Amino acid sequence: GPSEAMQATARANANIALVKYWGKADESLIIPHASSLSLTVDGLGTTTQVTFHDGTSGKAAASKHESEESDETGDTLTIDGERHQGKALHRVSAFLDRIRELAGIQARANVISCNTVPYAAGLASSASAFAALAAAASHAAGLHMDDRDLSRLARYGSGSASRSIYAGLAVWHAGHDDASSYAEAIASLLESEGASADAAESARDFGMHLAMIVILISNKKKAISSRAAMHRSVETSPLYRPWIQSCKDDLRQAITAVRRGDIEMLGTVTERNSYGMHATMMTAQPPVLFWQPETVEALHAVEDLRASGLGAWSTMDAGPNVKVLTSAKDAVRVCEALRERMPERDIRIHMAGEGVRILDKNL
Ligand code: PMV
Repeated sequence: GPSEAMQATARANANIALVKYWGKADESLIIPHASSLSLTVDGLGTTTQVTFHDGTSGKAAASKHESEESDETGDTLTIDGERHQGKALHRVSAFLDRIRELAGIQARANVISCNTVPYAAGLASSASAFAALAAAASHAAGLHMDDRDLSRLARYGSGSASRSIYAGLAVWHAGHDDASSYAEAIASLLESEGASADAAESARDFGMHLAMIVILISNKKKAISSRAAMHRSVETSPLYRPWIQSCKDDLRQAITAVRRGDIEMLGTVTERNSYGMHATMMTAQPPVLFWQPETVEALHAVEDLRASGLGAWSTMDAGPNVKVLTSAKDAVRVCEALRERMPERDIRIHMAGEGVRILDKNL
């Protein structure tokens, strides 16, 4: 019947920003202050199945303003085998409301999500989660969205999710409203800037031959969400304005580096951009310090590797873990050198990964 057709499963990978998104110009539309650049990576992903069932029951009319503890949204959410209610369910339910509105349906949904994170936790990313949810839910609702629309939709779940629609390198254009704030693949960006098809293709290839090595420092849930931490940077850090200017310069340089296939130039930009973002946190009031002693140890190890001639550059997000940009061909050597210096750490390679896709089998 028609209810059986209203089901889809999608898989998306996480992405790690090289030029970071840190701070919103519009908090309800999720419009950032600056554009960003990321690498979608393999092995840190989410698979999500969405099933809409035509319930014109009482629950369908339930308001999303109901008590947080109830499941009055009428939707259900299961993540890695565990039923979720409260905040997590409400965030998903509000996201599904957008899709229901676009599709003109009222049906409630069951959402089942599995994270393929090879660590205990802590790296489960909202980027892969909302990219997979956007694709699965829109498909299940019968909407046929192109990548740009999917990216705009995913943006509402989590800003960084807008970039996980694409394989390899992706740029999220800050834009100024809902329609103009979306991500696109590096090749398509370069072509729209007048690059030849060959040049665009080799930029895409360059991205697909990058890798990220993740040095796990802690898998504990963070004390402050990235949403709250970036808000604090925007509102209170004296370095926030200069940071936004540096992001614009860094993005231009990063794109030039990609066009030239120059990983050293790209790595240099990546590392300084990450330090700049953290500087806006450390200078916020009250300050936000995600770094642990082991974080600093890992950052120094990356410097040592570079001094010894290896191509490796650090980057960090809203947590204590350190990620290391390198090339696919150097990844094993860099990983081994890091493990040698920090034998007690869990250190893993994540190659450039694919964009979101609908699976032909449901969970
Ligand atoms: O997508 P959010 O709201 O979780 O923000 C992600 C912010 C960073 O990961 C720190 C940087 C980025 O661009 O991914």
